[in-house]
Amino acid sequence: MTGGLGASAGFPDIRPRRVRQSVAVRSLARETDLLPRHLVLPAFVREGLTDPVPIGSMPGVVQHSLDSLRRAAVEAAEAGVTGIMLFGVPAVHDAVGSGADDPDGILNVATAALAAEVGDALVVQTDLCLDEFTDHGHCGVLAADGSVDNDATLERYVAMALAQARAGSQLLGLSGMMDGQVAAVRHALDAEGFQGVLLLGYAAKYASAFYGPFREAVDSQLQGDRRTYQLDPGNRREGVREALLDEAEGADVVMVKPAMAFLDVMREVRDAVRVPVWAYQVSGEYAMIEAAAQNGWLDRERTILESLLSIRRAGADTVLTYWATEAARWLARG
Ligand code: PBG
Repeated sequence: MTGGLGASAGFPDIRPRRVRQSVAVRSLARETDLLPRHLVLPAFVREGLTDPVPIGSMPGVVQHSLDSLRRAAVEAAEAGVTGIMLFGVPAVHDAVGSGADDPDGILNVATAALAAEVGDALVVQTDLCLDEFTDHGHCGVLAADGSVDNDATLERYVAMALAQARAGSQLLGLSGMMDGQVAAVRHALDAEGFQGVLLLGYAAKYASAFYGPFREAVDSQLQGDRRTYQLDPGNRREGVREALLDEAEGADVVMVKPAMAFLDVMREVRDAVRVPVWAYQVSGEYAMIEAAAQNGWLDRERTILESLLSIRRAGADTVLTYWATEAARWLARG
């Protein structure tokens, strides 16, 4: 007995498997792409190095010398990666992070070198935060009572922004989570003629345990934690609120960070703002997959690509990932 509209009794009317039957049909049905241009490479450059130094908790990632950084940037550009985000590791730290806005400080020197060498092929980007430069390891300057002083920190961010723009940074990553940081930096840049420098607001940056390996990567001095300025991992609405504020303050791009543990926030932020939304696949996400792959517990390449695709599916336009160059090569190979 056959039913109406061609349905056969006892058989499924609807067969979703039809779109999975072959490579070609699956390709027609695929909703989300992952391409080299969706990737940005974060990179660490340490003052005074002649050779790169491996980071134990991030196998395959190094603290670069200026020379090895240049090579890594060229390789990233050749692989089709669209940007490199620089983090500086200075030799000396102090209470206000003086190395951050010193034109001869490692981050600004490295920025100038890359802007000259690969600035046409890659968007050269700089982390704008004080934690790598302060002796207490906080993202801002401290008030007399030891708390992080929001408005005094904004003055330091403005000085840092101008130094980075003068060095040739094309996009400043405001990762310090101070209130008003996007507006403060935008006004200062515009007043000095740097209207063309993009701002990335780390809007929904959570106080996350997944940053663990990064602390080794930048020789962090941090005592305590960042819970008075980074978001509580339980809060989704607050992440959306921060993203909307950053967009209103003039951010060209907003960030959700970390990525995989916050994909619900990613989706909601993507639906709420009209600027590009980036995700940061952080050091702990990297370390987890590398450790499991080293043990033979996960297929390394498949897991990495699936993690990146999932971040894209959740709404990220672009992903910062330590695998950017390698993943871009895999993707170009097809
Ligand atoms: C702060 C900063 C951090 C990371 C990027 N920028 C550390 C933190 O907020 O504690 C973490 C990146 C990673 O874990 O890969 N400037």
